[in-house]
Amino acid sequence: MRLVKFLATAGVASRRAAEEIVRAQRVSVNGVTVTDPARDVGDADAVAVDGTLVRPDTERVVYLVNKPLGVVSTADDPQRRPTVVSLVASKLRLYPVGRLDLDTTGLILLTNDGELAHRLMHPSFEVPRTYRAVVTRPPVRDTTLRALRRGVELEDGLTAPARVRRLAPDTLELIIHEGRKRQVKRMCEAVGHPVRRLARVSFGPLELGDLAPGAYRRLTAAELDGLSRAGRSDRRVATASSSARARRSPASPGPADRPRGAGS
Ligand code: URA
Repeated sequence: MRLVKFLATAGVASRRAAEEIVRAQRVSVNGVTVTDPARDVGDADAVAVDGTLVRPDTERVVYLVNKPLGVVSTADDPQRRPTVVSLVASKLRLYPVGRLDLDTTGLILLTNDGELAHRLMHPSFEVPRTYRAVVTRPPVRDTTLRALRRGVELEDGLTAPARVRRLAPDTLELIIHEGRKRQVKRMCEAVGHPVRRLARVSFGPLELGDLAPGAYRRLTAAELDGLSRAGRSDRRVATASSSARARRSPASPGPADRPRGAGS
């Protein structure tokens, strides 16, 4: 097995972060520092990170956390601010699946399963994330909703079409499946409505529900099963609606652009 996969499977970090850990010369195999993330390792090899032997956790867990304001969504913070990982009482080495900004609240997953985290964050799986955004300069007009649905030109390129509906004159629900940095805030800014408050309320099939800020719960076996199939099945839906969209005029989005049967 490749070294990064071993580290991710062992719950050390996501594959991408594990690659950085290897390149930073923090990993040894049988006492020799290794810098090649693709190095082959097997059961007989003694793999250590920062001198501590890595024993793959046998138990795979995923926690759903309601991230409060002011909590960072990294495993460690050099500035010693509270982290989402510190909210969960677990002896396992957990890390967040993706990121939420310091001032964004809501649903974030923590896991020790690097493979699952990698898959959920990979753009090709297109796991939909639902956000509630309270914006400035209400009311948000229909033309603006249509612009958000079509895709917005940002400095890192055009966003994929989003599903958007207006919940109140100053409140939007947006469903996106890309995970670009500050994406929702930048999209809303680009259409003239900077975000005042942002919360993530769902991730794939998982809903935040009425979990209190700072509270968490462990996912059930059924939820884990749904999550591991989320990307693939949702990707089929996204593909079907994208082709339907391509057949329609871009200025007249149909029901596929509107989440859960809601109007704009
Ligand atoms: N989009 C943002 O702008 N911020 C987040 O934290 C998540 C999505």
